[in-house]
Amino acid sequence: MEQGRMEAGESAFAWWQRGIVYEVYPRSFQDSNGDGIGDLNGIRQRLPYLQWLGVDALWIPPVYTSPMADFGYDVSNYCDIEPMFGTLADMDALIADAHERGIRIILDFVPNHTSDQHPWFVQSRSSRDNPYRDWYIWRDAKPDGSPPSNWWAHLGGIAWTLDEPTGQYYLHSFLPQQPDLNWRNPAVLQALKQQLRFWLERGVDGFRMDALMHLYKDDQFRDNPPNPDWLPEKQAEHDQVIPLHTLNLPENLQAVAAMRSLLDEFDDDRMMLGELYLQTKDLVAYYGERGRGVQLPTNSTLILHAFEPAQIKEDIRDYELALPAYAWPNWSFGNHDRPRFATRAGTDHARLGAMLLLTLRGTPIIYYGDELGMTDVPVAPENLQDPFEKRSPGKGLGRDPVRSPMRWDDSEHAGFSTAQPWLPVGDGYQALNVHQAQADPHSLLNLYQRLIELRRTHIALAVGSITLLEAPADIVAYVREHAGQRIAVVLNFSRKARAYSHPLFADTKVLMTTDGMEDQFGNALKLSPLNGAILQLRAAPPIPVLL
Ligand code: GLC
Ligand code: CA
Repeated sequence: MEQGRMEAGESAFAWWQRGIVYEVYPRSFQDSNGDGIGDLNGIRQRLPYLQWLGVDALWIPPVYTSPMADFGYDVSNYCDIEPMFGTLADMDALIADAHERGIRIILDFVPNHTSDQHPWFVQSRSSRDNPYRDWYIWRDAKPDGSPPSNWWAHLGGIAWTLDEPTGQYYLHSFLPQQPDLNWRNPAVLQALKQQLRFWLERGVDGFRMDALMHLYKDDQFRDNPPNPDWLPEKQAEHDQVIPLHTLNLPENLQAVAAMRSLLDEFDDDRMMLGELYLQTKDLVAYYGERGRGVQLPTNSTLILHAFEPAQIKEDIRDYELALPAYAWPNWSFGNHDRPRFATRAGTDHARLGAMLLLTLRGTPIIYYGDELGMTDVPVAPENLQDPFEKRSPGKGLGRDPVRSPMRWDDSEHAGFSTAQPWLPVGDGYQALNVHQAQADPHSLLNLYQRLIELRRTHIALAVGSITLLEAPADIVAYVREHAGQRIAVVLNFSRKARAYSHPLFADTKVLMTTDGMEDQFGNALKLSPLNGAILQLRAAPPIPVLL
């Protein structure tokens, strides 16, 4: 076996460490029954594409029974499938087919809140002495008649809604149709564990845990302090206070440990991806004591920060320094809530971005369509879907543009559906679609596919250590190393050609460049504008064994 080459099954690393996660927004991936909305059978039809691309796991946002106030993040039955997405049998078939192709399934789980139509909440609101009353967070008005605290909801408006028949307010960190569960009541954890167990027994490989930093709130309901830096024109309403008493409470870590111990009752391979927008120093706590927490607490630095070299170097350095020894990193550029990477960074940076994301140390999480270079698709006011935009209009916070249908080919509706899709496909799909991109050897899509293949076949890229190299301001360079294999990545962020050399680069072999011309360098490393290269370095000299 070539030194450092990986073979299937051979590894001390778990699949979620070696592998690549791909987020499929289910409403927008593939419609199989002509109603303009993506569904489970649609995802199943597209498994050959996902296998060709080379991803190891699909994260699927909620497809459970839901009134769709927040497009599935308002669950009314965790143990069934929303008819518009299919049936439980369709989900079983998707899990089985995906597994057959070596692709794992990560379901999105919503532990912070349910739908207001969930039977638990229907009971809870029915009377003050209903046994389910305390499953949610009910509170009297303040003596002056105002809401119980100054807490704001994350999708617009205040976080309290008055239930007139019972005369109390209930808390919702998101929409009024998404009442928050009361994690201080142990019955809630027991019930949620049963829902999780249902899916673990059906064979899902893990969960993306939604809104994990919200689970516990201050038990004294103290007001949050005002945020003096709030920009009312640009920022959401909830940003006017600092979420001291509503976000990232220490008790959240107990909840995480409890869910993890349930996963551990199954085999070692079941995992959690936690939605957490936190600074690195707070984020790492979610790995749990001795790593018995969330395996992949999502690192949002590349989502929130500017895509520019000084920032990227700082983010890599800070993150790597903050990670405890047992913690496995992860990286992503976006998801169904955030502007697309190619829109934020510019389409001309998409190739550099692909090389960065797929060569950093840690699990890459790809948002569907980013591998094509899809950009945000504007939505006309009369076609608005996202409740966030409707409740906070005009601030550019709406999430419809990042959820546009996947572009498969140049036929009407881009091969996504035979009917008018729920969101517009957008302009330019005739030239930018999977069918066309697969045929073009220089497409971004083929670059993604080749990078994924390279990562899969080179253990240093998949699981190796990372060391940043000294480099000029517009170059990001690092070395990945494992089992005697040493690989360098050099990314030129300048719009000019740049030369870069490093003593480690003697005997260099170019494995890949972002512009597809692997042999252009000769012996000197010259990078064309906005181009990156992956170099195979001479293997580290073996450590002499002294007898
Ligand atoms: C998460 C989801 C988002 C949803 C919210 C409420 O942030 O990613 O789409 O609106 O939770 O469940
Ligand atoms: Ca459909």
